[in-house]
Amino acid sequence: MSKIIVNTLERKSKINRNIYGNFSEHLGRCIYNGVYVGENSDIPNVNGMRTDVVEALKHIKLPVLRWPGGCFADEYHWKDGIGPKENRKKMVNTHWGGVVEDNSFGTHEFLELCRQIGCEPYINGNVGSGTVQEMSEWMEYMTFDGVSPMAALRAENGHPEPWKVKYFGVGNENWGCGGNMRPSYYADLYRRYQTYVRDYGENRVFRIACGPNADDYSWTEEVMRIAGRYMDGLSLHYYTVPGDWDKKGSATEFDEAEYYRTLKKASYMDELVTKHAQIMDRYDPEHKVGLIVDEWGTWFDVEPGTNPGFLYQQSTMRDAMVAALTLNIFNAHSDRVAMANIAQLVNVLQAVILTEGEKMVCTPTYHVFDLYKHHQDATLLGTFAETAKIGADGETIQNLSVSASEDDAGAVHITVASLSATESCPAEITLLGRADGAVQGRILTGRMDAYNDFDCPENVSIRPMESLRLENGQIRCTLPACSVAEITIA
Ligand code: AHR
Repeated sequence: MSKIIVNTLERKSKINRNIYGNFSEHLGRCIYNGVYVGENSDIPNVNGMRTDVVEALKHIKLPVLRWPGGCFADEYHWKDGIGPKENRKKMVNTHWGGVVEDNSFGTHEFLELCRQIGCEPYINGNVGSGTVQEMSEWMEYMTFDGVSPMAALRAENGHPEPWKVKYFGVGNENWGCGGNMRPSYYADLYRRYQTYVRDYGENRVFRIACGPNADDYSWTEEVMRIAGRYMDGLSLHYYTVPGDWDKKGSATEFDEAEYYRTLKKASYMDELVTKHAQIMDRYDPEHKVGLIVDEWGTWFDVEPGTNPGFLYQQSTMRDAMVAALTLNIFNAHSDRVAMANIAQLVNVLQAVILTEGEKMVCTPTYHVFDLYKHHQDATLLGTFAETAKIGADGETIQNLSVSASEDDAGAVHITVASLSATESCPAEITLLGRADGAVQGRILTGRMDAYNDFDCPENVSIRPMESLRLENGQIRCTLPACSVAEITIA
């Protein structure tokens, strides 16, 4: 019997809703076909945005969406994507498949997508190949409410009202695809570029600096030392790759050893966040700078027969377990993690949604975001799990991963991932400080390699948990192998 303790009296940090954010890049079929089909498409749309996708994202309360990249961001020139579509520049997407980018989805379209979803835009600017002036004018174009060349251009393009754009990234992976810079050089560039990303009117920009690749602690050290006081957020990128970068492994065909290796690698996020946060603590003891994990998730070999530059992969229950484990880690570190953006939204990497023509499926990862949505803006509670170690060959992990929070209405939400691929887990959950209340549960479970496809879109989906009761401050249940549950005590 595994034991979970939830201490409702130990109230910790607020879980920033933006931890449940997502990332959309001009990559493969993420933007085009994935979210944007154009006004003239037969696929139901509003102003070109797929209605099915927008509705699905509203359901999981997507709080924030990053765009336009990724590596694409440091080659993107925003003025190519405004004005009459027939005049927009057609260019090659050099990073991702060498396909034609016709710029029909640009700033207006992205901000319209965010409006329809009801999420905050997070725009990533171009440091690698863009100018200070270009970045400065982008913010002026989007947010200035007055007489200026960019405000006039915006009005000419059909949007006289300014938008609100809070989150702005100053470069992406500038240690790699964003210019192959050294940290001190980037830190100086960051200081310079961010100076001209202006706050106009009531729009207050939350400036995000390019942070480290995985365990590159020296990047964090140097950028925080030189530029820490000029930023509101520092990004971190870490992908879970079960194999090597040149042979990552199949998304759907894997054995138990590879399943556990994947989860072990995903659990490394805890160490990464802990150690980067320790460095940040030295330069920012007051926690003014948020850690922004704006790219995370699984990265496998592309589906056989698909364009290698499109990064299209299926998503199984293994991905759902990675998502559940990682989101519990972010919740636990919500005193420092202010935002996270899983990569990516639709049809790319660990997507929450897949599309094919007019068809759409929600992946198991989507359902995890559904199960976890009540943590958004809730107060993290203290938890403890006494549970078995699982896995083999030095790649063991704790069987249960747990998180709990209390929302504004006083309801407690517990999310538990039961990670074993084969063994169900009897569990006793003790709530300290809460003796009674109505209990409801929802659960996602399936074989480790189960997935949803266009023929079987509901193969893996959320079901109610039957007959849960809170008696004398305890709930007893059996968590199936490879499952993610949300238990709510009203
Ligand atoms: O998400 C795919 C790519 O991974 C992004 O473009 C880049 O930032 C990262 O290397």
